Amino acid sequence: MCSIIGYRGDVSASKILVSGLRRMEYRGYDSVGVATFSDSQIRVKKGVGRVDQVNNRSNLQTLPGNIGIGHTRWATHGRVNETNAHPHMSSSGEIAIVHNGIIDNYKELKEILQGRKYFFKSETDSEIIANLLQYHYDITKDIKRSMIKTVRELKGDYSFVAIFADGTLAAARFHEPLIIGVGKKGFFISSDVLGFIEHTDEAIYPDNGEVVIINFGGIELFDFAGNPVMHHLTKISKEFADVYKGEYAHFTLKEIFEQPNSILRAGDNSRTEIEAFVSAIRDSRQIYITGSGTSYNAALVAKHLFLKYGKKKIDAIISSEVRFYPDYFDNQSTLIALSQSGESADVMEAVKIAKDSGAQILSIINTMTSSLAQISSISVGLNCGPEIGVAATKSFTSQLSIIYKIADMVCDKSIEFDLKKISTAMSKVLESSSRIQKTARVLKHASDIYIIGRGIHYPIALEAALKLKELTYIHAEGLPGGELKHGPLALMDSNSFVIVINPNDSTFNDTLTSAREIKARGAKIIGISDIESDVYDHWIEIPSINESAYPFLEIVPIQLLAYYAALENETDPDYPRNLAKSVTVK
Ligand code: G6P
Repeated sequence: MCSIIGYRGDVSASKILVSGLRRMEYRGYDSVGVATFSDSQIRVKKGVGRVDQVNNRSNLQTLPGNIGIGHTRWATHGRVNETNAHPHMSSSGEIAIVHNGIIDNYKELKEILQGRKYFFKSETDSEIIANLLQYHYDITKDIKRSMIKTVRELKGDYSFVAIFADGTLAAARFHEPLIIGVGKKGFFISSDVLGFIEHTDEAIYPDNGEVVIINFGGIELFDFAGNPVMHHLTKISKEFADVYKGEYAHFTLKEIFEQPNSILRAGDNSRTEIEAFVSAIRDSRQIYITGSGTSYNAALVAKHLFLKYGKKKIDAIISSEVRFYPDYFDNQSTLIALSQSGESADVMEAVKIAKDSGAQILSIINTMTSSLAQISSISVGLNCGPEIGVAATKSFTSQLSIIYKIADMVCDKSIEFDLKKISTAMSKVLESSSRIQKTARVLKHASDIYIIGRGIHYPIALEAALKLKELTYIHAEGLPGGELKHGPLALMDSNSFVIVINPNDSTFNDTLTSAREIKARGAKIIGISDIESDVYDHWIEIPSINESAYPFLEIVPIQLLAYYAALENETDPDYPRNLAKSVTVK
């Protein structure tokens, strides 16, 4: 959601903080702020907008000192304005904090602290941390004790970094990510390794419920009871260095073009886990699969594959819905959780509910150090490298890759897919990107886009609609072709655009009939198929491949269509408005 960062070392902090925040903008990007410590003083600069906008306006990079904290915000409590942007200072100005997460009991704590003459400026839940720390520090005059007392009183999920008026950095982690970078030029505290990857590849991963203090004496870690804890230094995998756009105009475009390779790498580091995954599925009485957004659409593909090729029923449940059906699970069931980040709060909540009922948790994740990986009995890694574009692209096809591998091993009938062939065919689709770019122009003034697909192509239609919504802000809806006549046909007129996912497989004739019904109502049709038809106003050709493999090929042109239509509409494809990549709030 939000990103937090801290630095204490030998060089100027503000530049390091700003460049780290720029890399972590995917986590939230409605406002930005930095606080540094020098000459016994904490100075804050913050504002509304993206990191570069606020930096150009307010020169965040000129704040003096070698110690500091920073934040990018995705508003949850309080409007998007400068006052609500982080860092927040305690009322005496001796402590500043940045926070990621939600403090559930901030209202009660605020009333108590206001009664003790601590005052508040913002509408945020986060500001409570600054004043609560200040209150305990005023009494104890001891940073460690004030941190412990504070974390014991906070309820909710959080990670925060505080800077004290003697230049000490102190951080705490409770169900939100926090990583320490250990470099030659100093210590870094960050929500993601991307915050410090250009400075060091050595990190410490504090556990949930731990506090970190960094001062002139070095670094100290302890649990919420105050007992010291030890952690090994972990070498961060090289793939994280791959966080530059290179020759591409946007991360989203780069990530779309990486797919012929990333689908081949999926699950590569997890061969034993894949085997264990398969036997766990075979042994389970009931299997459920969950995820949010794109990951849920991948879960639906899994449901189709298992049903079609294995006659095995898997229930797909949207993660945010699980809490309304807490009796779904028991100790005979298995929940498969899909998540690129492994941090989505809705997914984590679903997993905790299932685990508390005795269910076994299996997961497919890109970030193997994530909270989801920690709570799962078996995790398989997507291994697709960091995905920076907020709208998921390569992580979706890597999820498919793993789902296909697992389904092929579990199901009685072979799925007959060949990832190498799929990869070559995907590259062919990408070669036609300039033609797809031309087609995207026709969507410039569209107000509604419908995407239809039958069978396994229906989840792809849902994913297509999600991509179009996220990137272009045009209303888009995925529909099973057969449902048109049961309602949506009433919406079709000459202003409607319909993308028809129509590969040459067992769904072909039925989907073509649906396309003709739509065409008869005057709508414009973009056909995605290996066979041309007069019904399409625009035809996007995909290579022919065996039936089960089409989903990999048909989503790629739609990702490109959404990307180029975003450029036509002058929206930012990497950072769509109001969204964040890793949604760590419910
Ligand atoms: C957010 C992102 C989506 C993503 C979803 C699930 O809503 O904007 O693009 O699909 O989270 O993310 P996860 O990391 O759990 O796969």
